[in-house]
Amino acid sequence: MVMSWFCSAVLLILSALCLCSAENPGVKVKLTKMIMDKGAAYAKQNLISQLKDKPLPDVNGTITMGEENMNYAFLNIRLVDFNYTSLSSSFVPGTGIKLVIKGGTTTLTSDFELYGWLLTDNGFCMLNLTEICITVIIGVQRDKSNKPSIHTVSCEADILGVNLTMIGGVSYIYDAIRKPMIKMIRNDLNQQVCSMLRGQIQQWDQTLNDLKLNILLDNSIGVDLSLVNDPVFTEQNAEIDSECMFYSPVNETKVALTPAAMSFDAQKGSMLTVGLSEASFNSASQVYHSGGGFIFRLFDAHSKSNSKAAALLAGLCQPFGKTKKQLVLLSASKAPTFLLQTNNVTVGFSGIINAHALLPRAQRETLFTARTDICFSAQVSILDSNFLPGLNLTGSISLNSFNLHVEQEQSEAKKREAEIKAIFMEEILRMLNDNLQTGLYIPFRFFKITTSTIKKGFMMVNANMNFECLENVLSSGNPSKS
Ligand SMILES: *[C@@H]1O[C@H](CO)[C@@H](O)[C@H](O)[C@H]1NC(C)=O
Ligand SMILES: *[C@@H]1O[C@H](CO)[C@@H](O)[C@H](O)[C@H]1NC(C)=O
Ligand SMILES: *[C@@H]1O[C@H](CO)[C@@H](O)[C@H](O)[C@H]1NC(C)=O
Ligand SMILES: *[C@@H]1O[C@H](CO)[C@@H](O)[C@H](O)[C@H]1NC(C)=O
Ligand SMILES: *[C@@H]1O[C@H](CO)[C@@H](O)[C@H](O)[C@H]1NC(C)=O
Ligand SMILES: *[C@@H]1O[C@H](CO)[C@@H](O)[C@H](O)[C@H]1NC(C)=O
Ligand SMILES: *[C@@H]1O[C@H](CO)[C@@H](O)[C@H](O)[C@H]1NC(C)=O
Repeated sequence: MVMSWFCSAVLLILSALCLCSAENPGVKVKLTKMIMDKGAAYAKQNLISQLKDKPLPDVNGTITMGEENMNYAFLNIRLVDFNYTSLSSSFVPGTGIKLVIKGGTTTLTSDFELYGWLLTDNGFCMLNLTEICITVIIGVQRDKSNKPSIHTVSCEADILGVNLTMIGGVSYIYDAIRKPMIKMIRNDLNQQVCSMLRGQIQQWDQTLNDLKLNILLDNSIGVDLSLVNDPVFTEQNAEIDSECMFYSPVNETKVALTPAAMSFDAQKGSMLTVGLSEASFNSASQVYHSGGGFIFRLFDAHSKSNSKAAALLAGLCQPFGKTKKQLVLLSASKAPTFLLQTNNVTVGFSGIINAHALLPRAQRETLFTARTDICFSAQVSILDSNFLPGLNLTGSISLNSFNLHVEQEQSEAKKREAEIKAIFMEEILRMLNDNLQTGLYIPFRFFKITTSTIKKGFMMVNANMNFECLENVLSSGNPSKS
């Protein structure tokens, strides 16, 4: 009785743990206040040019002049100039982002119509606005298709100074009606400005909705960056959790592994801190392997002929006459595994070495096949490439263990197994170190990385945003193109 209760309790706890970890993100992004400040500075140029193109709704109303009621209508309202002294943005805990636009001068043009019992008139007018203050709160959520989605939570606009110049028509009437009209216009315009911003935010939401979060990296691998939950906002940070699991575009199979929870603080002084889980690395490894990746040439016709490997292979070739060409391939027999620990990435690699003698008339003879298990540790870092737009992964490697077994029993190769093992261990280590020292170029330009460190279970990267690049993506709606 006690035992069965205990078992079901354990089961419950285990399934709860499974449920939690299923929701852990493959990549966690923490944005700092700094990105809000820099983003606001960047948006200043951008926001305005977008607002300028928008036609505004008509403004209609009635004013009383003495005994007479007059109707007015402002049609074809256009924002021709929008200058302001400040645009600031901040996080709103639990909700999203707040934008405050202050000051400046704004010029609108419009056609007008006046009609009353005594007279009707029409013409063109110019409105100058001063002392504008607009406060918009934008909510950020995850939508049904696991993409980020934004909406207007609230908008308040306040316009203190309005100057109206009417051109055409009968001027003494304008002098009489200017004051009450300005009062009316001011009230209407506060509404107008907010409706304009609501429209703009809706349009941005559509752009976000059109974004592809399934990004094809090349013909053999893609990554799914869908959000795993709603973004979380606090006073200091915004936190975005994305799945970051890789898939094969060939058969659309996603390798979704369950990441462990990542816990880290965003670093002040950089715009964002990103945690990349061990599970994401392993997901990429599995997809890359199933697509035929992880095949290396250890030795071929172009290799140095005075190396130890060359001498060894020449010796093994003797039964096949005087061939001087050999080819040795190393291919992974299963996806390499990645284990991330503090300042240390441990890679487990199981593979097959195939050594061939290349004979005339495109014939080849097997010199030997060998199974190998390699475990090595690497110190790696990702920084900005110093001459290409993108990132550069570099590092160095140390060997933890190396096993090699020649398959062909009673062969010359089997007799020389120890020698083969020593020579290829050296070759493989040299190849890996050479490659890592040269660096692996990753053409990813959204971030400029400042530091990267390996933590237990994840890689942590501090970076700054490349706004130009982001804007290109948002305006084209396709991240894989830029
Ligand atoms: C405003 O008045 C004009 C002129 O009478 C009319 O054409 C227009 O439809 C009106 N607009 C609104 C929003 O009522
Ligand atoms: C407003 O800004 C524009 C550039 O966007 C500039 O050409 C114009 O002179 C400015 N107007 C005022 C009144 O500052
Ligand atoms: C309104 O601003 C424009 C420039 O933006 C200026 O040419 C015009 O004279 C101003 N009108 C008033 C009434 O201030
Ligand atoms: C409106 O225009 C008048 C004269 O052009 C000017 O003296 C006044 O400062 C302007 N006021 C605003 C709020 O632009
Ligand atoms: C296709 O998917 C299966 C798993 O369902 C995988 O084993 C196989 O290697 C994949 N093939 C390619 C080319 O990705
Ligand atoms: C890295 O981790 C592996 C596995 O735990 C360990 O064998 C190796 O000694 C570590 N290397 C360094 C440099 O800490
Ligand atoms: C990557 O870093 C290495 C080592 O600093 C350097 O030699 C290499 O040129 C870099 N590659 C790129 C693409 O920046």
